[in-house]
Amino acid sequence: MRNFTNVKDIGPLDLAVKEALEVKANRFAYQHLGKNKTLMMIFFNSSLRTRLSTQKAAMNLGMNVIVLDVNQGAWKLETERGVIMDGDKAEHLLEAIPVMGSYCDVIGVRAFAGLKNKAEDYEERVINQFIRYSGRPVFSMEAATRHPLQSFADLITIEEFKTKERPKVVMTWAPHPSALPQAVPNSFAEWMNATDYDFVITHPHGYELAPEFVGKARVEYDQRKALEGADFVYAKNWSAFADPNYGKILSKDRDWTVDTEKMALTDNAFFMHCLPVRRNMIVTDDVIESERSIVIPEAANREISAQVVLKRILESL
Ligand code: CP
Repeated sequence: MRNFTNVKDIGPLDLAVKEALEVKANRFAYQHLGKNKTLMMIFFNSSLRTRLSTQKAAMNLGMNVIVLDVNQGAWKLETERGVIMDGDKAEHLLEAIPVMGSYCDVIGVRAFAGLKNKAEDYEERVINQFIRYSGRPVFSMEAATRHPLQSFADLITIEEFKTKERPKVVMTWAPHPSALPQAVPNSFAEWMNATDYDFVITHPHGYELAPEFVGKARVEYDQRKALEGADFVYAKNWSAFADPNYGKILSKDRDWTVDTEKMALTDNAFFMHCLPVRRNMIVTDDVIESERSIVIPEAANREISAQVVLKRILESL
């Protein structure tokens, strides 16, 4: 695997999950792959899980790791070509990228959507510039429209906890005080659509995701109806995708918060969320602290999804 930005890059999902479970059972078996190899992780946005789990995965593989928080201590970066750089941005990304590439063997990039310009966000300008100009394999640590390391970890978690061959998985919108990108729900939908699970998306009117991500999923506007018989409840907030409201908050209706009454409609479902989560906005304390909440094993699987991706990239060098 050269680059990892979406579900297609990982190939057949059954093989990817099998490899993930093998890696999880023996995570130090591939240390030879990373010897004298350097991973550079570049963050344009904050992170807890992605940063720690990816660094741990790289260390499991014997790699050296460099982390750059672009907004803390680096030169302010210009990303637009053709701009007269007479403002506060001292360096252009088009020089910075190949320089960064010269210090490492693999690059991970986190660069969220700006939520101001849909076309710009959906063309994935930042990560595509890294792919084009770094000369190195590049993987997404959450880009503008997708978060594939998260979705892969979500899939591994569902495979570990499912008790039915074809579980019902419901992704539900839930309220949040600030506008969030569509990357996690887009990506989760993309990965669920690549399985044969019974996959349902529920959200208020106005929160429709891009059709290419909704795919074959059933969309149900009545959250309670959607949750009936669910085996997994995946809660997430996202801002509006559809014009003219792209990137806007249309509702903070706490009637969409996942609580014990909603979970009682399910088939004793497991509760999932990518974290960080706003308690009593997205989900109540009772639900996230319940024995059916699997948010911690889900986060722990971020180490495994990152390790499979890095392992495959190292094997291709
Ligand atoms: N889920 C996730 O990507 O967490 P961080 O934003 O903390 O990395």
